[in-house]
Amino acid sequence: MHPLRSKSQLSPNVTKLIVEAPRIAAVRRPGQFVIVRLDTEAERIPLTIADSDPETGTITLVVQAVGRSTRDLVALEVGHAVRDIAGPLGRPTELLEAGNAVCVGGGVGTAVVHPIAKALAAAGVTVTSVIGGRSREWVIYERELRAAGDVVVCTDDGSYGRKGFVTEALGELCEAGGIDVVYAVGPVPMMRACAEVTRPYGVHTIVSLNSIMVDGTGMCGGCRVSVDGASEYACIDGPEFDGHKVDFDVLADRLTTYRDFERGAAGADGDSCRSLAGAPR
Ligand code: NAD
Ligand code: FES
Repeated sequence: MHPLRSKSQLSPNVTKLIVEAPRIAAVRRPGQFVIVRLDTEAERIPLTIADSDPETGTITLVVQAVGRSTRDLVALEVGHAVRDIAGPLGRPTELLEAGNAVCVGGGVGTAVVHPIAKALAAAGVTVTSVIGGRSREWVIYERELRAAGDVVVCTDDGSYGRKGFVTEALGELCEAGGIDVVYAVGPVPMMRACAEVTRPYGVHTIVSLNSIMVDGTGMCGGCRVSVDGASEYACIDGPEFDGHKVDFDVLADRLTTYRDFERGAAGADGDSCRSLAGAPR
């Protein structure tokens, strides 16, 4: 059992949970995720570990409540417990050792890119983060990312920071030159667009794939993705892959596989009950 230590609202449907998981907090590395099950009947939800504190034995999970399972999870009261947390799972992020990195976070994906930016900064890499939200209230993790380096905030409606998608700001940084690697995490269209922005500049671009996951151990095949023409499992071969080699059409197609079932499970609102972690999302 994993008691919930604290809960806070980051944006209208994104909640930060800090839960006890001392063994995971002690060993997890940036880019890794956990699979959470609220109780014995609940769906398994993959969630990227946004942060951890080995001293207090806690991990931070950022959950976008989009369906029944994620809504149940964020409804948990402080002091009550999550039944199971399996992990850390997945390969840790391939971290640049020196130079200039750009970390791009779209919406809730900003929480996923945060541990990468934090680890890069700690290693002495110069980090610029480009983060985006639909409007001001959807921008998350800005303060935490400022601790790692410069931050460019973008909003779709221009209500905060610069107006436009993160890809526009990324394009300008690419044009200025000097970038060694880009880490991009967010909605599939955003990651695809980031990879297309960096491709002509030959900038290595790592994306975190949020494919559907069930067991998280390479057994079920649910998270299969196509990378450089080969089948890979996001849970054990990823979740991070070379964005220039990912077949985003296959990813987008597979993400819709259970849509009808999810609508049914979520109830009349037609909301998806699948977790956003994906790669954990
Ligand atoms: P959103 O749709 O509000 O978009 C957030 C930002 O991403 C936008 O403000 C914009 O800057 C950028 N963006 C979106 N579409 C773009 C496009 N076509 N081109 C360029 N930039 C674009 O994001 P949200 O609602 O917070 O995110 C939800 C999605 O993120 C879900 O689909 C979920 O599965 C995915 N997700 C992915 C991961 C992952 O690990 N890759 C993690 C969490 C969530
Ligand atoms: Fe089952 Fe990856 S989640 S193989």
